[in-house]
Amino acid sequence: MSKGYKNFISGKWQVSKSGQTFENINPADSKQVVGRFQKSNQEDINEAVAAAKEAQVKWRNTPAPKRGEMLFRAGELLLKNKDTLAREMTMEMGKVFKETGGDVQECIDMAYYAAGEGRRLAGETVPSEMPNKFCMSVRMPVGIVAAITPWNFPMAIPTWKLFPALIAGNTVVLKPASDTPLSAVNLVKLLEKAGFPPGVINLVTGTGDEVGTPLIDHSNVNLVSFTGSSNTGSLVAEHCARRMKKFSLEMGGKNAVIVMDDADLNSALEGVLWGAFGTTGQRCTACSRVIVHKKVMKKFNDLLIDRANKLSLGNGLDEKVEMGPLINESQRQKVKKYVDIGVEEGAKLIVGGNYHNVKNCRNGFFFQPTVFTDVSPKMRIAQEEIFGPVLSVIPCDGLEQAIGIVKDSKFGLSSAIYTQDVNRAFKAIEYLDTGITYINSSTIGAEIQLPFGGTKGTGNGHREAGTAGIDVFTEWKSVYVDYSGKLQKAQID
Ligand code: UN1
Repeated sequence: MSKGYKNFISGKWQVSKSGQTFENINPADSKQVVGRFQKSNQEDINEAVAAAKEAQVKWRNTPAPKRGEMLFRAGELLLKNKDTLAREMTMEMGKVFKETGGDVQECIDMAYYAAGEGRRLAGETVPSEMPNKFCMSVRMPVGIVAAITPWNFPMAIPTWKLFPALIAGNTVVLKPASDTPLSAVNLVKLLEKAGFPPGVINLVTGTGDEVGTPLIDHSNVNLVSFTGSSNTGSLVAEHCARRMKKFSLEMGGKNAVIVMDDADLNSALEGVLWGAFGTTGQRCTACSRVIVHKKVMKKFNDLLIDRANKLSLGNGLDEKVEMGPLINESQRQKVKKYVDIGVEEGAKLIVGGNYHNVKNCRNGFFFQPTVFTDVSPKMRIAQEEIFGPVLSVIPCDGLEQAIGIVKDSKFGLSSAIYTQDVNRAFKAIEYLDTGITYINSSTIGAEIQLPFGGTKGTGNGHREAGTAGIDVFTEWKSVYVDYSGKLQKAQID
């Protein structure tokens, strides 16, 4: 019998009022059950939100540097337990151990960063138009935050939401993806140890319909912070808009690397392979299009075919493995469907394209690293987010055309260019319309001290991480202090 895990509400680990559980399986071996988790419902959500509300005033009145000390302790605990957390994450999510270590490292980075923010949380002081009057702005918490998080970064993304929310004085209810609840439980266990008071952090596991929707709709939830698919994101937006709630969305990408004719091709190749097949292509920052200058395309494609064919697939806990499975069977079917679409559209399938059998992992959701060449920018495989290891090579004649192709997308998360020419690099920075641009590096690998997020269909204008990441979780208050001892009328006196 697999191990059972509970919800965390008001500082206590509890079973769901539904009396039901669901199983979490290992995508590298779907016969292996990682654990049983609470299949929660509206009643559990009501309790969790009530706990967050109860804890709210005391938490917002706790000085921010003190809140920061707790986050610092959380960082220390995450660091101490990094390997175990990463191992368990690979078991439930599939990505290779080095990458799950990176996921936990992002949590550690965010903990230390947010802890320091406890001694800043900066506002502005500005001059007044009148004598003997002082003007400043300060940040206030929003209140109760619902964090709805995906399975591809099962610990990092919850911390991108929780840590800035907490340092700003909000209390939270976390609803993690049903495919990866263990990493959320592991995170919350450490946060409990770090000393956060009961009710400040609550965790409720379960499905989108039974837990996500009641959480978003709950009248006491002030802000919904969501990362996931565009379809679910637009539903979140509809629900929040109808109730006049704040919401921040971080959704899809169709990120491109441009390889110019003057690029260091070996370096570009490494970047493209890492961006396209790292995390089995399941990052919203994944490189799913590579736009290659025709002058170097033949050479680049030959290198790409050779290396992509050699990537080793298997259980991410095996050190030799470079690419793990997809998260589940329906994701695998979706990827296969896109491969069929690509073939029908007339793109040339030159690597992979099918399910993959791994010795010793017969029941895993493996898919071959897949490369299409001769892709035209309007094809569906070049426009729609696949969220799997499928790369489209698109030829171009020069920088201007390449930039046009990158921009011809409903998404705008990440982009990259490989070139040795500083003028081309700066033109790319200026004209690419994505939230993140890399020069001589892949589309993945954002660091937490800069804003993370995208333009157009990727989001709704907000950013996570960096100082910008605090903005979502705070309301501005403008303060005017008149010490003249008389009535001074702005705009009139
Ligand atoms: C995501 O794919 O949702 O920049 C997040 C990166 C990682 C985060 C990815 N630091 O690729």
